[in-house]
Amino acid sequence: MKPRQYAYIYTIGCQMNTYDSEKISAVLGSMGYENTYDLDQADLVVCNTCSIRKKAQEKAFSFLGKVAGRKNNKKDVITIMAGCVAQQEGENVFKRIPNLDIVLGTQAFSQLKTHVNAVRSSKTRIVDTGEHEQIFELMPDFSTLEKDRASRFVTIMQGCDNYCTYCVVPYVRGRERSRKPENIIREIEILGDNGVKEVTLLGQNVNSYGKKEKVCSFPELLEKIRSIDTIKRIRFATSHPKDFSDDLIYAIRDNEKICRQVHLPVQSGSTRILKKMNRGYTSQDYMKRIEKLRKECPDIALSSDIIVGFPSETETDFQQTLDLVKDIEFDGLFAFSYSHRPNAPASKFSGEIDQKTKMARLNHLLEIQETFTWRKNQACVGRRESVLVEGRSLKQRKGNGQCIGDMHQMTGRTDSGKIVHFCAKDLSLGDILKINIEQAYPHSLWGSVCDEK
Ligand code: 5AD
Ligand code: SF4
Repeated sequence: MKPRQYAYIYTIGCQMNTYDSEKISAVLGSMGYENTYDLDQADLVVCNTCSIRKKAQEKAFSFLGKVAGRKNNKKDVITIMAGCVAQQEGENVFKRIPNLDIVLGTQAFSQLKTHVNAVRSSKTRIVDTGEHEQIFELMPDFSTLEKDRASRFVTIMQGCDNYCTYCVVPYVRGRERSRKPENIIREIEILGDNGVKEVTLLGQNVNSYGKKEKVCSFPELLEKIRSIDTIKRIRFATSHPKDFSDDLIYAIRDNEKICRQVHLPVQSGSTRILKKMNRGYTSQDYMKRIEKLRKECPDIALSSDIIVGFPSETETDFQQTLDLVKDIEFDGLFAFSYSHRPNAPASKFSGEIDQKTKMARLNHLLEIQETFTWRKNQACVGRRESVLVEGRSLKQRKGNGQCIGDMHQMTGRTDSGKIVHFCAKDLSLGDILKINIEQAYPHSLWGSVCDEK
């Protein structure tokens, strides 16, 4: 019998990378590799990388720098850099990691099998940053997917045509292209048949889904997914304010499967900075979109992304960002300090903000947001929320949960995306329970089950 072969996959970055790593795992599975979480056991290591900020990129170099050239059980481990940093750096990766075997760009995942076989048969180094068929058309394979997950990601489009001046995505993920609706539906049906209850549709700008290909619009796609009986909840990310149409707002209002949660990155509260970022809307336009959304869907939870310290950002610009955050009161916020990226036009802009100012602005913004996040959580106390059970909570897995007797501490999410911990007797993964919310914490809620379904 052939000895077992193991693959260790390390994923850095966004939800789309998590999804891509599942597809990488399926390709490796078809070659006989089993997943392992133990680096010492691995015969092959893939690092799926992110280049959105310098910090994420350096994390990949640091990890692979330690792993490349490694031997396990006296055999060479095949090491692969995949994804955005691989696409951006190409051959240059070998200057920093000479012992690496394969550099696999974002549109070359389908070539993984060929390249691994080539390295296995003759110790050679390979760089592939070319355009090949899309890996996302590979249907989900539950022999390689982690089981017992009630919620899963589905990539519906790749790339981006927006060219925000700070962003590397159009250069590393390529031009925007949408998947065929029938393939997306087929994939979601397969997920549903395997116990998945919630899907999060992924794309850099899901609102413009299908526009180029003229297949169907994003609201139409949402309507098609609504008719899949096994799927109870639909989420999506990321949306772009300039493409957030009234039709989409009405779809959220009228389609009961779409969760009451929208992530709508604003990036800055200053119209001057938004213009320099090439975002295509003003701060007033953004406020108007939020007003319309809140009017039609009053219970909607909102989150956003903000970059502080963009070149030439003044105290007045930053104050406008704080004012917008205070006006809107987001449920959650991802705030970043601006990071220069190669290829992105803003790296040549004048008016660089020093690191100390950037950090001070970031901390100030996060401090203000914390109070809103907590306040929003506190407002949930006393409410009865629908919660999709996602698994045992971390505390319980660590063995210090608060439940008594044969009760387990479980975790799930409200329709609005808030994390809820509660006690339950049976492992009711994938159930949608009614939970009375009893306590609020800064980043989660605590409640008790009020009936079975
Ligand atoms: N520096 C800092 N943050 C960035 N983002 C994208 N590019 C950069 C950059 N160069 C942030 C944006 C985006 C999120 C995914 O990452 O806020 O919405
Ligand atoms: Fe980057 Fe802008 Fe595209 Fe988002 S919309 S991926 S920030 S270029």
